[in-house]
Amino acid sequence: MLVTVLLLLVTLCAKGGNGVETEEVRRPGHVSVVIVGGTGDLAKKYLWQGFFQLYVNQVNNGNTFSFYGGGLSPADQATPVLFDILKAVSCSKDVSQERCALLKEQFLRLSRYRQLKSLEDYQDLANHIEKKLEEEGMTEAGRLFYLSVPAFAYADIADKINSSCRSTNGAWLRVVLEKPFGHDFRSAQVLASQLGSSLKENEMYRIDHYLGKQVIAKILPFRVENKKFLDPIWNKQHIERVEIVLKETLDVKGRIPFYDQYGVIRDVLQNHLTEVMALLTMRLPRNLSSSEEVLQNKLQIFSSLLPLGKNQAVIGQYQAYRSEVQQELNKTKDHVSLTPTFAAVLAHIDEAQYEGVPLLMISGKMLDERVGYARILFKNDIFCLKNHNSIHCKPKQIVFYFGHGSLQYPAILVSKNLFKPDLINSEWKEVTEHSDISVLGLPISDYYVQTPTEQRDAYVELISYIYAGRKNSFISTENLLASWGLWTPLLSSLASSFPRIYPGGADNEGLLDIRLKGKDIAYNSEVVIISRDQMGGTSGNGFQVMQGKFRSADMVSAWAEELVEKLAADIQEAAEAAVHESGVFHLALSGGSTPLALFHRLALHHFSFPWRNTHVWMVDERCIPLTEVQSNFYSLHNHLLQHVRIPYYNIHPMPVQLNQRLCVEEDGGAQLYEKEISRLVNGSSFHFVLLGVGYDYHTASLFPGHKLDEFGESLVALTESPAKPHQRMSLTFSAINRAHKVAILVMGKGKHELITQLSRVKDNPDKWPVTGVKPANGRMVWYLDYDAIIG
Ligand SMILES: *[C@@H]1O[C@H](CO)[C@@H](O)[C@H](O)[C@H]1NC(C)=O
Ligand SMILES: *[C@@H]1O[C@H](CO)[C@@H](O)[C@H](O)[C@H]1NC(C)=O
Ligand SMILES: *[C@@H]1O[C@H](CO)[C@@H](O)[C@H](O)[C@H]1NC(C)=O
Ligand SMILES: *[C@@H]1O[C@H](CO)[C@@H](O)[C@H](O)[C@H]1NC(C)=O
Repeated sequence: MLVTVLLLLVTLCAKGGNGVETEEVRRPGHVSVVIVGGTGDLAKKYLWQGFFQLYVNQVNNGNTFSFYGGGLSPADQATPVLFDILKAVSCSKDVSQERCALLKEQFLRLSRYRQLKSLEDYQDLANHIEKKLEEEGMTEAGRLFYLSVPAFAYADIADKINSSCRSTNGAWLRVVLEKPFGHDFRSAQVLASQLGSSLKENEMYRIDHYLGKQVIAKILPFRVENKKFLDPIWNKQHIERVEIVLKETLDVKGRIPFYDQYGVIRDVLQNHLTEVMALLTMRLPRNLSSSEEVLQNKLQIFSSLLPLGKNQAVIGQYQAYRSEVQQELNKTKDHVSLTPTFAAVLAHIDEAQYEGVPLLMISGKMLDERVGYARILFKNDIFCLKNHNSIHCKPKQIVFYFGHGSLQYPAILVSKNLFKPDLINSEWKEVTEHSDISVLGLPISDYYVQTPTEQRDAYVELISYIYAGRKNSFISTENLLASWGLWTPLLSSLASSFPRIYPGGADNEGLLDIRLKGKDIAYNSEVVIISRDQMGGTSGNGFQVMQGKFRSADMVSAWAEELVEKLAADIQEAAEAAVHESGVFHLALSGGSTPLALFHRLALHHFSFPWRNTHVWMVDERCIPLTEVQSNFYSLHNHLLQHVRIPYYNIHPMPVQLNQRLCVEEDGGAQLYEKEISRLVNGSSFHFVLLGVGYDYHTASLFPGHKLDEFGESLVALTESPAKPHQRMSLTFSAINRAHKVAILVMGKGKHELITQLSRVKDNPDKWPVTGVKPANGRMVWYLDYDAIIG
């Protein structure tokens, strides 16, 4: 026993130096490993080998094991299949042949096939484990279930495990799951809540096999070890861009029924590349071994990512994919799949450290080479007048090279004009012997190169992490949902986009090259090789922006996206005209969800907007603190103001909170706002007022049934809403109708009924408040999207 404890301490200490520590104090004893789907492809290719390796590494550490391959087939059929797989496991080079033969023999003796179909099968397994423990007088350390089965079976199996396979003696339970974890945010949430009813969060190990790759697992430790070099340069002042790239040469033939449902974004970007991006950009945890801290810092990055829209992605599809789909899904010759097999996505992190730094994530099938890497390209601020070949004139970069490609081995490369990275432990070594190759534009001799002393398969690594309870190498529920939260809106906005068709392999040439245009991304070459035929019979959207009349005022209509573009352009035009004329632009904005797309458009695309000369006012406000999510100002601030360079003193939230109370008449908030308007806005006439219309025809916070004429000449008033929070502060018609221009934005199918009604009714502000908008000397324009018009 003493020897065991000592050995355990030695391993813990050895690992400690590596930043790897066990999360639960390991209790020596017996571990039962169950691979459900134990004769399937993944198990055959990787899992058994991984568990054999675990066994070899742990056999002298005081723990004992039994291994079960589970499956739906009866034991007499599946047992020979399982043993054929088990016989194929191999030892690493440093194990002698005799010792290897002995270890394999032991491993085979400890392994069994069990049919796992019904609840009774799981109960029998649990009874068997308990009986064995009792017979051999062993304490139990834990039970590890590896579900190598299609995702639809997870919930059911997890339920069976919960109801019959939990140990009663305090041993741990760990259940390992493989992707896909859902198809979008909703389905991931449903699956997570189903699993959550059977398993505790700390019992679930969702695998992203990328996190088992040695170079990727090393990203955080590398950042910590080289903090003194990286701290001064790991920011927007120095980073030109970050690229995370996984190129594949294979097609997806034979996997189409799965792949066509997912496509490259769900298959690779949502999980592998997103995880790498988070590891590269998250704040460094003070304690690398603390799963909670790593998770919290990762989640922080997810919440700081700017939303991904259509303009932040390009997609492609290899030419032969279409006929492969027709074949494998039994479709006719005119069937077209829009599933992308290539995607490049441009993300941005809305944090001072990374503001404006492009983060590119790129992956595809049927490309020219197989390679995976993440590169941080730094700005080179040295101008070389003559000798462009001297090292300080060359690209400055750090490359995390996952494998394959020209280099052929996993490595971390730091260009010599940056710094010489520290080597902290013996698991990595420096490579100094170089063949004559280049990596991403630099000859390898221009890099400091580090590689693992021993290359290990990702599954071998992950299985050892599961065994060690190292949760930070797995995907927690929160992490998963945050990632889907980022990708789901992009996936929906791309759902009807046509991918660019590419021939595949070397023939792709420059067809998939991409170009960054501010916050947007596009293919570099404009060649469009989508023929009518490839598009199938779809008519496309023929509608453009149209001008017309609505309620005898001007109307602009278009599909939502174009409508928002047009409105944003009109606001900028008004701003430039006003600034030209009087040096200042007074803009009054509404709250609610409809203008959010407009705010994003203004924040992300209108870089020349004269914000410095713009004053932003509120059309109305809820009587709640401005820091609450439902506050109109809060939303305006989050979606627009914090992204643009507008001086603080040009921002005018409504004073709904005075003397530590909300909208009390005596506090005179409305009068205060009115005074501020009169003081700053010439003639109290805003240049541009943006309004919306509610389902009850209210506009601003002017609701039906309110005696709106009671406000007289006041510009600002306290009003009552039928919805909570009831109290509001609002501009009155007196203020609105003095404006130079009033825009009323109405979007979405849900507003169709309202628009139909409005096209018929006469002016009657008491009943339909929006009909009271009548600028005396200004212009009024309705911005209606086709969904609202057509329904
Ligand atoms: C597991 O099953 C038990 C009932 O057998 C139930 O009370 C419990 O909530 C389930 N889930 C977890 C996470 O333990
Ligand atoms: C780091 O976190 C691990 C796991 O939570 C913990 O065991 C260890 O004590 C922590 N180390 C420090 C220095 O706080
Ligand atoms: C397509 O048809 C073949 C033969 O008729 C059949 O074996 C196969 O299951 C079908 N595949 C799908 C996806 O329907
Ligand atoms: C204020 O408005 C009046 C009337 O619209 C205009 O004549 C005057 O030039 C404006 N003043 C400034 C400073 O813009």
